[in-house]
Amino acid sequence: MVKETVARATESAAVDEIAIDGFDHVEFYVGNALQACYYYHNGFGFDIVGYRGLETGSRDKVSYVLKQGNVNIILTGALSAKDEVAEHVHKHGDGVRTIGFRVRDTETAYETAIKRGAKSFSKPAQQEDEYGQMVTASVHTYGDTIHTFVQRAGYSKENFAPGFKPLEKKSKGVGLAAIDHVVGNVEVERMEHWVDFYKQVFGFYVYQYFDADDISTQYSALISKVMANKTGTIKLPINEPAIGIRKSQIQEYLDYYLAPGVQHIAIATKDIISTVDALHKRGIEFLTVPRAYYDALPERVGQIDEDIEELAKLGILVDRESDGYLLQIFTKPVEDRPTLFFEVIQRKGAHGFGKGNFKALFESIEREQANRGNL
Ligand code: FE2
Repeated sequence: MVKETVARATESAAVDEIAIDGFDHVEFYVGNALQACYYYHNGFGFDIVGYRGLETGSRDKVSYVLKQGNVNIILTGALSAKDEVAEHVHKHGDGVRTIGFRVRDTETAYETAIKRGAKSFSKPAQQEDEYGQMVTASVHTYGDTIHTFVQRAGYSKENFAPGFKPLEKKSKGVGLAAIDHVVGNVEVERMEHWVDFYKQVFGFYVYQYFDADDISTQYSALISKVMANKTGTIKLPINEPAIGIRKSQIQEYLDYYLAPGVQHIAIATKDIISTVDALHKRGIEFLTVPRAYYDALPERVGQIDEDIEELAKLGILVDRESDGYLLQIFTKPVEDRPTLFFEVIQRKGAHGFGKGNFKALFESIEREQANRGNL
């Protein structure tokens, strides 16, 4: 908490912030969009709300749009070996290509970013169909990841975007409500570079930071800074590996993703017990912590609303901060490579990232790393 205060006081934004209302979507490039869609629909309870492919005139890509609460995920696969999607998947395995930002004015957001040094991926383009108009533009960030500005005020909620057609394949849903934060892993000694990028291009500030002492186990370590906009609708932690006795989990990610990229997407729920219970029943696998974690919990976090036995049964972690507490849980990697995973988080007054859980959590990750022969 001291660090957060220090960070806020001394690291105010260098430039005016680019106005961003929130996360618009996250797009994954995957080897088989049809099958990945089945996984997120049945495993995570997303509705399938949109499609583009050969039938809609898309000759090189297939995409499915999944929605739950305010979380939009696009799964995109390639229809030819030469497509950029195929190249991305060949190099990285399935992973996140795009973190989309909802803006009121794409052109201003894009021009400001470019003027401040962002590298263009695609210029502002207005697309139109019977549902209205949408303006998008994209800039590069770490690795092969891009940020897309999405101005959708002139577009109907009945369709995701021009080029897509609406689908209505409902799922029961598990209570996933909104993207809380999206975490990137970058190489050793590159975190500051990307911190400066978000400060100088987007006008974000360092919301919190964690040094190797905060995030280390007997074996390995990482350091992390959380970049955020003033309203807190965008939070982008950036991790880099730190030196430990064994290989950092961040280094394992980099070794398999072969570039910096998105490590995890945290999704907020209003009732983590029912959400995680439903996800367990649907076959989603989570990291586990030893029983001793729950034995020590009452003393560490004090009074909480939830039944600790219920949390223990589901493997949900708890952390207390000055303003309240949070509950969180992490899936195992959801791709073939040990790269991307999800977090489910419920905030009860706490704004942080579960620092008190780092040790138990990273020991859990390291047990998995050791099982993979990568520790
Ligand atoms: Fe997280």
